[in-house]
Amino acid sequence: MPRIAPSILSADFAALARAIDGVAAEADMLHVDVMDGHFVPNLTIGPPVVRSIRRHTDLYLDCHLMVTDPANFLEDFAKAGANGCSVHVEVDGVPDLIGRMRELGLDAGLAVNPETPFEACEPYLGDLDLLLLMTVHPGFAGQHFIDDVMPKVRRARDEVERRGLPLSIQVDGGIDERTAPVAARAGADTFVAGTAIFGADDPAAAARRLRAAVT
Ligand code: DX5
Ligand code: ZN
Repeated sequence: MPRIAPSILSADFAALARAIDGVAAEADMLHVDVMDGHFVPNLTIGPPVVRSIRRHTDLYLDCHLMVTDPANFLEDFAKAGANGCSVHVEVDGVPDLIGRMRELGLDAGLAVNPETPFEACEPYLGDLDLLLLMTVHPGFAGQHFIDDVMPKVRRARDEVERRGLPLSIQVDGGIDERTAPVAARAGADTFVAGTAIFGADDPAAAARRLRAAVT
């Protein structure tokens, strides 16, 4: 079953509760983009906002940590009520970070930039709940889907099937009604969308259309 993950990065941060309520019935999880101004050239939100969201909703909170030193923050996100975190394979100390997420009771995700080859994440597949394959360069919403990532999605799907791994394959960036089916055909099962959902006049209807496009 495909899963839809609205990214709150494209919501109105001054009216986040209303934005979340608007899509809750259509969302399988909320995607929370955390940026540190160092791993990516943008700043967004951190654990205090996750804590506030947690008080407001029971939705699964999927935190995408675009930060250079996730070790400094994993405990804060767990305490704030995150359900899962994804760290980037491009940062130092990935094995320890995966172990730390497990210790903290977080679902463990690994995010992979568009140019990073599949081989970088392959050794960790057996230890993960989620593989996040970026379909834009991380840092900003509203960018164009990078088709060239599809062979990597296909390779990940083949490997997951071959080994029978209980791993979700998430795509993130430029996902809309046109690109989501492309990623689904390549093997993605979880679809993050910011602009396509929160940029629409009716975000709930947009999320429904996105689900229909991949079902
Ligand atoms: C980009 C973020 C994405 C972003 C997606 O760095 O990781 O989650 O919010 O936004 P859209 O769907 O607009 O590409
Ligand atoms: Zn993201």
